[in-house]
Amino acid sequence: MKKVLVTGGLGYIGSHTAVELLDAGYEVLIIDDLSNAELDVLEGIERITGTKPHFEKIDLRIKDDVEDFFLRNEVDGIIHFAASKAVGESVANPLLYYENNLHTLTYLLQQCLKHEIHHFIFSSSCTVYGQPDELPITEDAPVKAAYSPYGNTKQISEEILVDTCKATDLQSISLRYFNPIGAHDSAEIGELPIGTPQNLVPFITQTAAGLREALSVFGDDYPTPDGSCIRDYIHVVDLAEAHVIALQRLFNKQNDAGYEVYNLGTGRGCSVLEVVSAFEKVSGQKLNYKIVARRPGDVISVYADTSKAKEMLGWSTKLTMEDALESAWKWEKKIRNL
Ligand code: WQD
Repeated sequence: MKKVLVTGGLGYIGSHTAVELLDAGYEVLIIDDLSNAELDVLEGIERITGTKPHFEKIDLRIKDDVEDFFLRNEVDGIIHFAASKAVGESVANPLLYYENNLHTLTYLLQQCLKHEIHHFIFSSSCTVYGQPDELPITEDAPVKAAYSPYGNTKQISEEILVDTCKATDLQSISLRYFNPIGAHDSAEIGELPIGTPQNLVPFITQTAAGLREALSVFGDDYPTPDGSCIRDYIHVVDLAEAHVIALQRLFNKQNDAGYEVYNLGTGRGCSVLEVVSAFEKVSGQKLNYKIVARRPGDVISVYADTSKAKEMLGWSTKLTMEDALESAWKWEKKIRNL
């Protein structure tokens, strides 16, 4: 049974990927520093899969601790989620992002070389494209000057992987996510934003649950059909499954190059106001929202060209945005005992 290390494996996407890896028959080891995740997510993973992954609380910025982990644990492949990911926070505190997102990647890759771990999946983001010139966005679209230090760390991380794969036997795939939403249908795991949610869907479900007065829609004066921004919202379970498929591609030596990149989206763009009305439909309740000023740094419209992942990985999304919103609402009601 191949052993897969999932860094940030108690986080939102990491925990959903750990479930899919266990369901696919892999042994899963999780490292998380619990800065943006809760330990009882481990029990949630166990309740879904019947298996409690090996877990170690490690801050990947501490090089000795990273080295020590690999001396004690055998690993065949790594899926690397652990990173800081709040766009706004990265603008206010760039050095935290450059240290936490880049040093940790280099320490992990050094261990890959030392312990001959050749398979590495990286959690990247559509944010590397900035505001694209053409839509839908293909993987060949130009990577533009990042809108934030967070986005810049994703761009630099990809460059670190390109250079490392060129110089060594490392085989790696970067997965560029669009907007992950939703939760596992068991409602045993889901998104757990700390404090005020930055992202749209958790803010919607918290508003519907009565934790927030109203959703602020950041602008309805954009050049889009209804004036609000357009994004590609992908169910987190579809996203998680893509990680297993990408890792299997490397394990089975099916990759065409030492380094590959794939967009992970639905290929469909949805506006903020369309998400709001879809949520009202699936939840059966009116959502209280108000239109406010645009949020600085928002791109107008971004959604994926998904043909490469479909062709090369044989992967495409199976779940709809309504499925995702329904699961997000079911999760919110579960954690709020509604
Ligand atoms: C989506 C849309 C907002 C909140 C970011 C990162 C990306 C990834 C996902 C980490 C936008 C609008 C939002 C609210 C709103 N993160 N909105 N009211 O900004 O597309 O992507 O999160 O990997 O890298 O850039 O996601 O959910 O913040 O916003 O109107 O309270 O919802 O303006 O149009 P975003 P988001």
